[in-house]
Amino acid sequence: MNDRDLLNLAVEAAENAYVPYSHFPVGAALECEDGTVFTGCNVENCAYGQAICAERTAVCKAVSEGYRAFRRIAIAGQGDSYCVPCGACRQVLAEFNYDMEILAGRKDGRYISCKLSELMPRAFLPEDLNG
Ligand code: THU
Repeated sequence: MNDRDLLNLAVEAAENAYVPYSHFPVGAALECEDGTVFTGCNVENCAYGQAICAERTAVCKAVSEGYRAFRRIAIAGQGDSYCVPCGACRQVLAEFNYDMEILAGRKDGRYISCKLSELMPRAFLPEDLNG
């Protein structure tokens, strides 16, 4: 699947976003090493801090279905700037693949791509628990 196809899945996923507070729908499409894609949207709550981002929704869907090897994630936001993952989502993504490719999209459909390790240098990773 090419970048544009994955981004389109993220755009579609944003249609289900539950965003009564921010009015900022986000969709994510997480591609596994075998090509399987899990999508997610942001899910907010009246206790604002309990909002779950689209990226973490997608990761939880994938992991709960037995998938852990991820190679790319596309994120579709509706802002004028590219929708890069928040700090909490960077940490959750890094748990599974610090080298993951991130496609961050914005309202006009343009996107940038980079590695998670570039967005989050010197991360605390699972291997840091050893020794
Ligand atoms: N949000 C995401 O779902 N993903 C991001 O990458 C950035 C922010 C959500 C959280 C909240 O529901 C809304 O966007 C505004 O911050």
